[in-house]
Amino acid sequence: MATTSSSLLQSLLFSLIIHISLSTRLPILTDPTTISTFSTDFGHLVTSSPAADPPHPLPSDQSPPSSSPPFHSAYRIPRVRVTVVVNRIRVFDDYVDVGGEQLWIDVLLETVKHGLSPCSWTDYLYLTVGGTLSNAGISGQAFRHGPQISNVRELDVVTGTGDILTCSKKNNSDLFYAVLGGLGQFGIITRARITLRPAPKRARWVRLIYVDFENFIKDQEKLISILEEDDFGFDYVEGSLMMDQSLSSNWRSSFFSMEDVNKISELGAKFGAIYCLEGSVYYDDGLGTAATTWIDQGLEFLYQDLNFVPGFAFTNDVSYTSFLNRVYHGELKLRSMNLWDVPHPWLNLFVAKSKIFEFNQGVFKEILKYNNSTGPILIYPMNKNKWDERMSAVIPDEEIFYSIGLLRSATIDNWKSLENQNEEILRFCEQGGINFKQYLPHYGHVDDWKKHFGSKWDMFVSMKRKYDPKALLSRGQLIFTSPLAQLSQE
Ligand SMILES: Cc1cc2nc3c(=O)[nH]c(=O)nc-3n(C[C@H](O)[C@H](O)[C@H](O)COP(=O)(O)OP(=O)(O)OC[C@H]3O[C@@H](n4cnc5c(N)ncnc54)[C@H](O)[C@@H]3O)c2cc1C
Ligand SMILES: *[C@@H]1O[C@H](CO)[C@@H](O)[C@H](O)[C@H]1NC(C)=O
Ligand SMILES: *[C@@H]1O[C@H](CO)[C@@H](O)[C@H](O)[C@H]1NC(C)=O
Ligand SMILES: *[C@@H]1O[C@H](CO)[C@@H](O)[C@H](O)[C@H]1NC(C)=O
Repeated sequence: MATTSSSLLQSLLFSLIIHISLSTRLPILTDPTTISTFSTDFGHLVTSSPAADPPHPLPSDQSPPSSSPPFHSAYRIPRVRVTVVVNRIRVFDDYVDVGGEQLWIDVLLETVKHGLSPCSWTDYLYLTVGGTLSNAGISGQAFRHGPQISNVRELDVVTGTGDILTCSKKNNSDLFYAVLGGLGQFGIITRARITLRPAPKRARWVRLIYVDFENFIKDQEKLISILEEDDFGFDYVEGSLMMDQSLSSNWRSSFFSMEDVNKISELGAKFGAIYCLEGSVYYDDGLGTAATTWIDQGLEFLYQDLNFVPGFAFTNDVSYTSFLNRVYHGELKLRSMNLWDVPHPWLNLFVAKSKIFEFNQGVFKEILKYNNSTGPILIYPMNKNKWDERMSAVIPDEEIFYSIGLLRSATIDNWKSLENQNEEILRFCEQGGINFKQYLPHYGHVDDWKKHFGSKWDMFVSMKRKYDPKALLSRGQLIFTSPLAQLSQE
């Protein structure tokens, strides 16, 4: 990863810089402090300096921004090579045009000012638009609205050939589909047009506890089948495995009171693995008590159909924006305990519904049985028909599949053992014939990538050949590392 600055890369960066400076007149930061900020990632398992310098040194009088956006390559992916800090979010009637480098939190705060909001999110909002659209962008809204990539109308992309293209389902559609979920392989997203809808004001936020996996799964699937917003149901559905450790020291645990934690821990001690279904219903408080009555009655009715442990429904009522920004509160808490900037050997999988019981048995009850890692373990289902098959993102070929997020925190001493455990889980899935795909995939060898993309691989390669033939972009993903040799082999 040292110096990959070929003349083509230079000219690519140059056209990007020209493009962005012309359209925004904001500075590009190249000072050592800023560069070093971008040399590590949330995984904290690798470091890599942005290697390419812009073609011309910038005058030193350009002041740094008041706060640099935290870029968060999950795990082992070195960051984008230039630090481009600009500020562009423009709200229209039913869409927003936003710079690829913008953080979702800023998109949220800006759009709600206009009474509007995107409808599909990630759990954590301090991620860039370009970064999540290069993967998929998932959270508890995806069952109904699809991943974030399903909510994009148009993109501006600077391709690896240095072209600046506008693309959509109608225009340069091959690039549009390739870039969404494309792991940064075809171009740099400089603008995304994202669908907006009226923003709700509040969220009734609920957690329901289960002691058996079957009821938990059945209820989640029931809830994600409520697709019509006019029917009463959750607007957000997630869930997690709760083990001793994950209850108290977890960045999502600000929800429960100490009393609740004790009550749940007792249950956990009795039953071992317990499961927590998380849901929320959005509403407007403009109607006063009518709205809360509607919510209360709706939930009561919904609960009659669900099989959580009686007495184990927990409720919070928060603003829409604090609901969406809930993980940030957990971040602050963990930071205060010095538990945020630690190694994160995360593993994210999409597992087909038909194999979810085998997965529960083999992974949650066997491989993870010691309960001694910290960090949430997410489990929630999504509907395949909300994904667009033409996009680069890959999912298991089944109508319902589960997102499994092993979002564990480690220490310098135990990260290796967690990594080994992740490998054990992958081996178990491979050998046990579990139909699954990695989300936020990382592989070291092109054969693994080929297998990952499956029937999409040929298209992926031909798009690479068309839009980034020298493989200048996102080499850190280790998909196309020695471009000419590899591509000419095909
Ligand atoms: C704390 C945390 C929580 C997360 N939670 C979720 C979640 O709930 N749901 C979810 O779906 N994901 C989640 N993620 C994963 C996240 O979607 C990916 O890590 C994503 O890449 C983050 O984008 P970034 O801008 O922060 O990363 P960056 O480091 O900027 O980019 C990572 C990679 O994305 C590509 N990329 C970035 N910007 C662009 C661009 N403008 N154009 C083209 N390619 C680009 C490049 O390949 C780059 O190497 C989480 C990550 C973290 C660290
Ligand atoms: C289609 O893409 C081209 C090339 O980027 C662009 O010039 C044109 O404005 C786009 N057309 C529409 C309707 O978006
Ligand atoms: C956690 O440990 C207990 C024993 O302490 C065990 O019974 C339980 O199955 C474990 N939980 C999981 C999820 O494996
Ligand atoms: C968890 O406990 C087991 C058994 O004591 C041990 O082998 C493993 O290394 C521990 N893992 C972590 C992450 O501490």
